[in-house]
Amino acid sequence: MSNENEKNISFDNGDQNYNTHLIDQNNTDNSNNKFTVTPWEVEGNVDYNKLIEKFGTSAITNELIEKVKDIAGEVHPFLKNRYFFSHRDLDWILNEYQKGNKFYLYTGRGPSGLIHLGHLMPWLFTKYLQDKFDVKLIFQITDDEKFLFNDNRDLQTINKFTFENILDIIAIGFDPNRTKIIINTKHINYLYPLSIEIAKKITFSTAKAVFGFSNSTNIGMIGFPPLQSAPCFLPSLIEKKLTPVLIPAAIDQDPYWRITRDIAEKMGFYKPAQIHSKFIPGLTSNGKMSSSKPDTALFTIDDPEEIEKKVKNTFTGGQPTVALQRKLGGNADRCPVYWYLKYLFDSEEKSSERYSNCVGGNLLCGECKGDLIKDVKPFISNIQSKREKAKSLVKEFMIDRKDIDN
Ligand code: TRP
Repeated sequence: MSNENEKNISFDNGDQNYNTHLIDQNNTDNSNNKFTVTPWEVEGNVDYNKLIEKFGTSAITNELIEKVKDIAGEVHPFLKNRYFFSHRDLDWILNEYQKGNKFYLYTGRGPSGLIHLGHLMPWLFTKYLQDKFDVKLIFQITDDEKFLFNDNRDLQTINKFTFENILDIIAIGFDPNRTKIIINTKHINYLYPLSIEIAKKITFSTAKAVFGFSNSTNIGMIGFPPLQSAPCFLPSLIEKKLTPVLIPAAIDQDPYWRITRDIAEKMGFYKPAQIHSKFIPGLTSNGKMSSSKPDTALFTIDDPEEIEKKVKNTFTGGQPTVALQRKLGGNADRCPVYWYLKYLFDSEEKSSERYSNCVGGNLLCGECKGDLIKDVKPFISNIQSKREKAKSLVKEFMIDRKDIDN
């Protein structure tokens, strides 16, 4: 299936003005293999090695993984299989940690819709980091961002998603005593002083170059980026000492960290470190799963019948007929079913066995789909029961420990 029809797959607005500027930067030289990665759009067949080059980040090396293993005792599969593939200053963060200078984790969510499996993956990894490194976490909800960037979302709808998304975040199992959720519109007092200091150091011309803003961009959006930067520095204020921050996030958020890193030292803070994930492919294409296209994603609130139906209708890397599949083999690299199984359910051995059986023509797509259905149903139903319990825990996770209305 072609990716060319997959426009704006992560971005519900429809206004493409402010991301087109990055297309040239991000395209590969081969014009048949175009891709775009910005905070509001991921399109095409992403070449992750090219992204490392273009964004100026570093690849996760075996050596770095060994270092994580030395400290954490255990390497998460998402590091081993390079779902987290790139970083900035992770080596520095680990060195500081070994010297006794503990970092904070910082991640976030723009509540533009419901949560699907693709969203959970960086959060599962963040929980691993919190547990193994025994560190605190700031979780930002950019409801303002999603209101400003989506023409067709009112604040009430965004509020509803904020509450629903927080249930998913809590369901991941973060430690309530070491996790603070900040909802931008509700907890602005924690961010505002830092954010005006940041804003004063960033010119419109920098923001245009980094985010692609244009004259038709609403000014709320132009003013937004410092609010996503502010939590990079907040831990130093909370702890009353310089505190390193590590951000686990998909690589599309990198533009925010680039501007933050540029001004960090001028403001007397450490540059925030990052560990970047890939995107999990959608069920119908090679782009990422999208909340704005319900059939491309498995949501945490889907019931077993819906899960089964979506997986059964999924695009795979298989051949049109059984005979051809046996003869030519499937294309596991382009198959979302293979990737889901690999990332979330299969062991390393199981996954490589699946791979060679598929490409060798010894495995039919129906079998893999059946495996995915079998694994994903209990996984999602477990999240659903944790979401129920989360309803009474929301207040505990808020940075001000106050109730939120939904
Ligand atoms: N902008 C992010 C989104 O649209 C949300 C976000 C805020 C975030 N702060 C973050 C994501 C820190 C990762 C890390 O989803």
